[in-house]
Amino acid sequence: MQQAGHKLRVALVGVGFGAEFAPIYRDHPDVEWVGIYDSNSDKLRAASERFCVSKTWSTLEEILDDDEVDAVHLVTPIPLHAQQSVAVLNAGKHCACTVPMATSFEDIQAIIRAQKTSGKNYMMMETAVYTREFLMVQDRFDKGDFGTISFARGGHMQDMEGWPYYWYGLPPHHYMTHAISPILRLLKTRVKKVHCFGSGALPEDRRQRYGNPFPVETAIFRLVDSDVAVEVTRSLFQTVRPYSESFAIYGEKLGFEWQQIEEEDPLVFSIPEPGSGRGRKILHEAVEPPDRQDLLPEEIAAHTRKAVFSDGKHLSFVQGGGHSGSHPHLVHEFVRSIVEGRPSSIDALTAAAWTAPGIAAHMSAMQDGEAMRVPDFRDVF
Ligand SMILES: NC(=O)c1ccc[n+]([C@@H]2O[C@H](COP(=O)([O-])OP(=O)(O)OC[C@H]3O[C@@H](n4cnc5c(N)ncnc54)[C@H](O)[C@@H]3O)[C@@H](O)[C@H]2O)c1
Repeated sequence: MQQAGHKLRVALVGVGFGAEFAPIYRDHPDVEWVGIYDSNSDKLRAASERFCVSKTWSTLEEILDDDEVDAVHLVTPIPLHAQQSVAVLNAGKHCACTVPMATSFEDIQAIIRAQKTSGKNYMMMETAVYTREFLMVQDRFDKGDFGTISFARGGHMQDMEGWPYYWYGLPPHHYMTHAISPILRLLKTRVKKVHCFGSGALPEDRRQRYGNPFPVETAIFRLVDSDVAVEVTRSLFQTVRPYSESFAIYGEKLGFEWQQIEEEDPLVFSIPEPGSGRGRKILHEAVEPPDRQDLLPEEIAAHTRKAVFSDGKHLSFVQGGGHSGSHPHLVHEFVRSIVEGRPSSIDALTAAAWTAPGIAAHMSAMQDGEAMRVPDFRDVF
């Protein structure tokens, strides 16, 4: 727990999409100041001027040696997440990291070990479980409105043509947490095993970096202590479809499906009167999910709606509508977990349970759909 009255001092690393978070930390009532670092000096200068941040650094090592810094939030390229998270925790600082946690089981283990050894907080900043849509479904789920669940499906289809180099050839399911995390959070379980097929064929020159031949992967997961099967499809290239980061969940009393395109509202399916007659009536309603500013301190509540970075021109805003208001909820949870001295809602074990299924799924795809077990990381120490 933080000393009474001590406000957090936060370093934000990577100010592409990451710049989104600078004004939210700046405005959070439990944060004294936020500083930033980016290895691209032009971006660093532009962001520090724009957000008038208190402090900048010229290397990550400088941040790790800076006794004033309590917590580091990493929003850097995917291949850096694991090594930087371990370095932050080993330096005795709390660590938030954008998704995915890592891209190998070994790196997941290393982060869990570093978190346990350091005793500092880790949080994977998974936007999908703080969207307006998810918060609405979670409310109804917790009230028992869905009844017994029979099936769930996650999807994340996004055209990554023109994105930074590390996306080219990335195994699609290595970045799958947005599609599976809402379902695992609702069902309060983790994945036991997976069968997955790759689909399509990447050109030879795009296969070099990761040895992955697939632009698309589709998987079916078995869960621990659950009879629900979960299907997840992920596409990165060669698949014409507007951006969609979605989930659907179906119970005996209620069903929920994410909107077809981001500009629409999601659909809720219900049965007006119980009955078993042939062709019984099933209703559908497009529901606008409420904006849960009531869950946030007043000082940061408006950030559920404001596109705070580049006037909303970063692709995550253009394509994802600011991840449906999730950013201030993530910052609030990370900060409050430290202040209250408790694990964050997406601590290292939870992050592992949401990241490892995608790693196992890609292994299965590389073996033409062979069953792959997903490790239980609770024994790592
Ligand atoms: N919904 C979400 O949660 C979501 C959405 C988009 C991106 N992401 C994650 O965020 C990451 C960043 O996304 P982006 O679109 O800004 O990517 P990007 O590659 O455009 O930007 C990454 C930034 O990190 C900087 N950087 C690179 N190496 C660095 C280093 N060693 N130290 C410090 N800074 C470094 C770059 O200069 C750049 O400004 C992605 O890799 C992805 O993992 C998550």
